[in-house]
Amino acid sequence: MYRVPNQEGKLCVVTGANSGLGKEAARRLAGAGASVIMAVRNVDKGEAARDALLALNPDARLEVRRLDLANLSSVRAFADQLIADDHPIDILLNNGGVMAPPQRALSADGFELQFATNFLGHYVVTLRLLPLILTAAGPSVTTVSSVAAQFGRIRFNDIQSERHYIAYRSYAQSKLADLLFAQQLARLANQRNWDLMSNAAHPGLTRTNLFNARLNVGRDTHKTSIQTRLAPSQGVEQGVEPILYAATSPDAISGAYYGPRGLFGLAGVTTLVKAPRSARHPETAERLWKLAAELSGENVPAGL
Ligand SMILES: NC(=O)c1ccc[n+]([C@@H]2O[C@H](COP(=O)([O-])OP(=O)(O)OC[C@H]3O[C@@H](n4cnc5c(N)ncnc54)[C@H](OP(=O)(O)O)[C@@H]3O)[C@@H](O)[C@H]2O)c1
Repeated sequence: MYRVPNQEGKLCVVTGANSGLGKEAARRLAGAGASVIMAVRNVDKGEAARDALLALNPDARLEVRRLDLANLSSVRAFADQLIADDHPIDILLNNGGVMAPPQRALSADGFELQFATNFLGHYVVTLRLLPLILTAAGPSVTTVSSVAAQFGRIRFNDIQSERHYIAYRSYAQSKLADLLFAQQLARLANQRNWDLMSNAAHPGLTRTNLFNARLNVGRDTHKTSIQTRLAPSQGVEQGVEPILYAATSPDAISGAYYGPRGLFGLAGVTTLVKAPRSARHPETAERLWKLAAELSGENVPAGL
């Protein structure tokens, strides 16, 4: 089991920290001595998760703050509050996400929900926080992608799936966008000589609410998904490891991609994985970045 090295004195921000991989990441980072900001869209759920973590480790330094990735005003307010606090951010985990709502749904800003939540919200929060991140010593931004990214394509002619919505296709596009974003940020850091590690990780197939949420939309049921019953899968303790490794290991590399080593990358110990063919086009990453900048009005802050 990967052991997070000492994080005393470090500040970590984890998006989607009330559940699944984000909650486990918060537990392990706080266990290693970090102060963790649990960025959640529902503060009640966030406080319940924080209380559960505090029950396990009363010394954990955990703070819940509201961040709705599917609402760019909320993303900006969250980032601006941190900027006002003026405390360097050592680790940003771009983790929160939704998968395959059965019907096409929109964010508060009118973007397709998965594109907005999984990718655009993280694009904005990262760029907005960049000045603060760059004041930390050896900071890292780790963005959570998925094995689904290999089935994705950035459909520039219908990025919001307006013409045709296929739930898993839009999910795959959003997770490919995450991977392209992590790589593009790493290239930018390199070009501009920023002391910043940007990389990506995926958790294989990890048993979390992600798979069950869509089954239970509009129902008061607790069905469990067929994927996690039939395919090789793992618990959150193992599933979070590539993410923690990417963010905290002294051996982690900027621009790299980490995931489980087992069959089809679904479970197993953490290893460096090859980005899928769909993610090996820097020109696509650049085009996506430009599009995100146009859609959100956010780009690298002046002076960096
Ligand atoms: N589990 C897997 O096998 C797997 C595989 C590949 C990739 N991933 C990725 O791993 C990440 C974490 O997912 P998980 O498996 O841990 O699932 P999860 O337990 O459902 O956690 C997802 C988290 O994202 C939060 N979230 C959703 N929409 C949000 C929004 N608009 N603003 C802020 N937070 C939001 C959720 O909050 P609520 O509780 O309020 O909904 C929850 O805390 C996701 O990016 C997912 O795509 C997971």
